[in-house]
Amino acid sequence: MCGIVGMIGKGAVAPLLVEGLRRLEYRGYDSAGIATLVDGEIRRRRAEGKLVNLERLLESQPLSGTIGIGHTRWATHGVPNEKNAHPHATSRVAVVHNGIIENYAELKAELTKAGQVFESDTDTEVVAQLIDFHLAAGLAPEDAVAAALKRLHGAFALGILFAGRDDLLICAREGSPLAIGYGAGEMFLGSDALALAPLTQKISYLEDGDWAVLTADGVQVRDRAGNPVERQVRLTQFSGAMIGKGEHRHFMLKEIFEQPQVVGDTLNTMLNPASRTITLMDLPFDLGSVNRVTIVACGTSYYAGLVAKYWIERLAKVAVEVDIASEFRYRQPVVAKGDLAIFISQSGETADTLAALRWCLDRGMNTIALVNVAESTIARTAHAALLTQAGPEIGVASTKAFTCQLTVLACVAIALGRANGRLPATEEARLSQALAEVPACISEILRADDGIRRVAEDIAQARDVLYLGRGTGYPIALEGALKLKEISYIHAEGYASGELKHGPIALIDDHVPVIVVCPSDELYDKTASNVQEVIARGARVVFLSDKEGQARLVNKPLAAFTLPSVDPFVAPILYAVPVQLLAYHVAVAKGTDVDQPRNLAKSVTVE
Ligand code: AGP
Repeated sequence: MCGIVGMIGKGAVAPLLVEGLRRLEYRGYDSAGIATLVDGEIRRRRAEGKLVNLERLLESQPLSGTIGIGHTRWATHGVPNEKNAHPHATSRVAVVHNGIIENYAELKAELTKAGQVFESDTDTEVVAQLIDFHLAAGLAPEDAVAAALKRLHGAFALGILFAGRDDLLICAREGSPLAIGYGAGEMFLGSDALALAPLTQKISYLEDGDWAVLTADGVQVRDRAGNPVERQVRLTQFSGAMIGKGEHRHFMLKEIFEQPQVVGDTLNTMLNPASRTITLMDLPFDLGSVNRVTIVACGTSYYAGLVAKYWIERLAKVAVEVDIASEFRYRQPVVAKGDLAIFISQSGETADTLAALRWCLDRGMNTIALVNVAESTIARTAHAALLTQAGPEIGVASTKAFTCQLTVLACVAIALGRANGRLPATEEARLSQALAEVPACISEILRADDGIRRVAEDIAQARDVLYLGRGTGYPIALEGALKLKEISYIHAEGYASGELKHGPIALIDDHVPVIVVCPSDELYDKTASNVQEVIARGARVVFLSDKEGQARLVNKPLAAFTLPSVDPFVAPILYAVPVQLLAYHVAVAKGTDVDQPRNLAKSVTVE
């Protein structure tokens, strides 16, 4: 999704704006631009494609100015080109925007009729033109913005610059995240704390409906009704150092290899290795009285929720429903006051997940956020936030956040079972021990990465790939398929192995690789027989199992990758790693943009 930055500085802001945009690249974009005031007049530089194109433009046509705004655009309305790149401006005002103005067509028609002249195909331009219209009518900037905000429907985080006012920025938030940064005689705004980290660690987050007037000396925040409000100033977790790739070629690979460390760090916040017990943070409700759990998320986070369903129902004997966030509130789910709802989100800003959270809060449910960004909107909106300790995840394809989410969810399942008395202490100890061994097991898998890389060359030629799994291996099959398709652009589908004969087996021929997630657990024999069925029809099987599982497989597959033998409880956390590596190496073989795949954004902050 789009990223915005803004600065009232002491020196030239153009380089700082570009640096801020570079830290927002991970969000995904297809054009970029900045605007500053030069002798009181609005000057813009915009470029299609990656930031390097904007930098080249600024080298040939530099911009001075000590106040400015910047934007990385993920196209929603209007193709990605210079004309549609932000900032959008008139002679009086320039605007950058993250979100969607849902009533833009109506506003555009009204403003065109009133004589405003549009230049772009975007929804955002109506914001600039609407503010311009009010400025032309003689309103002061604050009043012009207040009047314009009343007309906007949809989601927006806005940064607004005014001709002749090199001491004033105004910003507003409705549905898309927006942070204010505090400097010494300087002020900043940005889509997230990461963008502002090189400039300041003092951050406050606006809430929906807030708008703020920034000057070099500070900020005045107002709520939807225009009343002054205070927003907490906090020290962000992000350092100023640019998060680098280390010795790795891509952020995704670096983040895959960080998993032993970050899974261990996450585990250490809940597991007591001495007593082999799990302790969650204090929750504002009694976990022991929970008799139904709803889990809501999108994408990879949704697949983590699917694994949690198996764990919670088996260990705590509590019914679990798992929903895709964009479907959840529209299907009118039957929920009860006091039920527990868990919202899983790496970014903590996913619009559909946030909307589902608010829907549940309105119905009196107890809510827990499971996020990777402590200051995120979802974390601050739920009753409690359980944090993964994955550190910033820059690659668009989620990897380390996923295994950390599973780690937290495994602990939640254990804690729920202990709280309601259905999980004996001896079982808690056994499962806790299995969890304690996961980081070392992941390290062992990563040491054998070459085996996966060799298979990838073959898979990279495929047009379609099938992933199979049973039990908690089924969501891992779904996740493996998502990883492959989102970064290599090869069509892939995950299926419950038992579903094969209900249709998907028709896809099988000797061009279709089949990736099988099959630890030697209670379901092994059933999945192994599915493997024979597809091998008999020419499929090229990549068989993921442990040593025992490999030995028991009768007809040998095209390729076999042996994982450590572990308690089936923790198998899904481990089996996520080879499917991540496979997707990565296939994408590299295909030469796609691994860290910023086409059309994708790291954080989907619009519905
Ligand atoms: C995962 O690889 C994808 N990038 C995507 O499905 C992601 O998991 C989804 O958009 C949810 O994001 P969130 O966890 O930040 O809410």
